[in-house]
Amino acid sequence: MIPASFVEQVLARIDIVDLIERYVPLKKGGANYMACCPFHNEKSPSFSVSPAKQFYHCFGCGAHGTAVGFLMEYAGLSFPDAMKELAGQAGLQIPDDASMPSPADRARSQSLLEIMSIASRHYRDQLKHAPQAIEYLKKRGLTGEIAARFGIGFAPDDWQGLHAAFPKNYDDAALLEAGLVIQNDAGRRYDRFRNRIMFPILDQRGNVIAFGGRVIGAGEPKYLNSPETPLFEKGRELYGLSQARQAIREGGTVVVVEGYMDVVALAQYGFGAAVATLGTATTPTHIQKLFRQAERIVFCFDGDNAGRKAARRALEASLEHLADDKIVRFLFLPQQHDPDSFVREQGLEAFRRALDEATPLTEFLLRELRQDLDLNTAEGRAKLVHDAKEMVPRVAAPVLRLQLIRMLADDSGLAQPEVERALGLKPSHRGRAASQPTPRHNVVSPLRQLLRLLAAHPALCGQLASELVTEFDESLEKSALIALLDAFDDGALQRSSFAAMYERFRESPLEPVFADLLTHLQDDSCSEETAAAMLSDLQIKLRRNAVERAIEALQHAASTRGLSPDENQQLVSLLTQKQKLRPGQSK
Ligand code: UTP
Ligand code: MN
Repeated sequence: MIPASFVEQVLARIDIVDLIERYVPLKKGGANYMACCPFHNEKSPSFSVSPAKQFYHCFGCGAHGTAVGFLMEYAGLSFPDAMKELAGQAGLQIPDDASMPSPADRARSQSLLEIMSIASRHYRDQLKHAPQAIEYLKKRGLTGEIAARFGIGFAPDDWQGLHAAFPKNYDDAALLEAGLVIQNDAGRRYDRFRNRIMFPILDQRGNVIAFGGRVIGAGEPKYLNSPETPLFEKGRELYGLSQARQAIREGGTVVVVEGYMDVVALAQYGFGAAVATLGTATTPTHIQKLFRQAERIVFCFDGDNAGRKAARRALEASLEHLADDKIVRFLFLPQQHDPDSFVREQGLEAFRRALDEATPLTEFLLRELRQDLDLNTAEGRAKLVHDAKEMVPRVAAPVLRLQLIRMLADDSGLAQPEVERALGLKPSHRGRAASQPTPRHNVVSPLRQLLRLLAAHPALCGQLASELVTEFDESLEKSALIALLDAFDDGALQRSSFAAMYERFRESPLEPVFADLLTHLQDDSCSEETAAAMLSDLQIKLRRNAVERAIEALQHAASTRGLSPDENQQLVSLLTQKQKLRPGQSK
């Protein structure tokens, strides 16, 4: 965790306009800066950057965020990495924390990175002097240009070949830690990679963090990979992502394949948006990382049983990261093919066509569920719904989930609410999506109005009657109000920009509420006096609402069961209170 106060400090020193301008040409338009949105395709600009709010917002696709958010979306960085980058630009150092790498850790991974970069250069140089390796790559159809783009190299058949690259420090612990050498029980050291074509694995910033090495021709293992090191965690990294970034952004689609050679061959044939998992199953972290950069993920697997299993794992990893504006598809290649052989034999156009026709996630999911079931029997139909319980409730996209439920209802012969109940979901109303966002178009609830007002005029927090807060029903907005008041009490709200406030709630359920507040910040700019008058009117309105609700409840009780004397008195008192609660008549 990076402390909120540090996020505040960094955001206070960074100008979001400067930052974004480095990546996207901005044009001044009124108080804001405009551009064509970098996150979706458009011809006229609807992407706006506000220097006052330190926030960007696209009216077209809804993308929004602070400087940190921009770096995360645009460069595909994680939150800590984006913060690190911004902190660096602001000349600040991220403070130590248990979960943050200590300066010693950082110095070490810095030097691990250096070591990896030296090794990578060494392997590339060696390739130039290895005719048999060059021959092999040519035979596999690669040009020098593509080999260079992927930094492909060669580790000669030599037990201590890396000695040439590290003449002074071949014995350093760091080489072991980087996974480049292996030490036997006798303490003798030798290179991990020997007589192999070397594929460097890069992180998002283009640093070499690991290698995959392929034997030339036959041999076991076919691919040898770096072990997990402080730099390299297989379940997080994807081969080729750094090189694919541009192509992914242009097309909005990323294709996930199984092999190093698949990525490289597709690039050779003009398809740059492919990445590969590293000999592991697809993880939810992979999906999350990919969805930061792409709207569509197509998993491309071999048409065999192993491919189907891998697809099944990818499906499960995807469920919790689905959104209704994101698409996941599955492409199963013909039995004998992998993407490499397919594109070579059938060409790029055929590959693109196959991608377009790939199976949508819902279809694949249902196909998996229906597998081996006889839906002509009650037992088969029951098992279908039973098995769906493990998958369907995990689908994070509400509308998509509803579609699945409908399809299950069709298949099982049950009514939709019956399916929902069987899946342990709350039945939705009359076919409306189960979790509908609160309508926000015209009706702004008084509580939301209050939030917007306080966001624009933090000083007013001190004037808010505290007992008012307890009267609201539990809701996200109420939680946001409490968070706002807490931030006011500890001084953060007055001290820092609202963009920093927003960052506190990244990835929390309150995030959309704070995004709304930021988006509306300037709409509420009026004098402090006017704002104070608005606050007092709003408080009256809110209290009146509460009183009215209490009155209704008592009146309902009166008509059904009659009221006790106490309740009667309460009702009278409430009715009097209501009389007094008129806007403009406060206190
Ligand atoms: P494949 O055997 O399908 O590799 O393994 P490939 O990319 O098609 O290889 P070529 O075309 O024969 O060169 C797919 C991926 O599984 C991992 C590697 O990441 C490989 O790219 N793998 C495979 C290993 O890690 N070790 C192995 O021994 C084999
Ligand atoms: Mn292959």
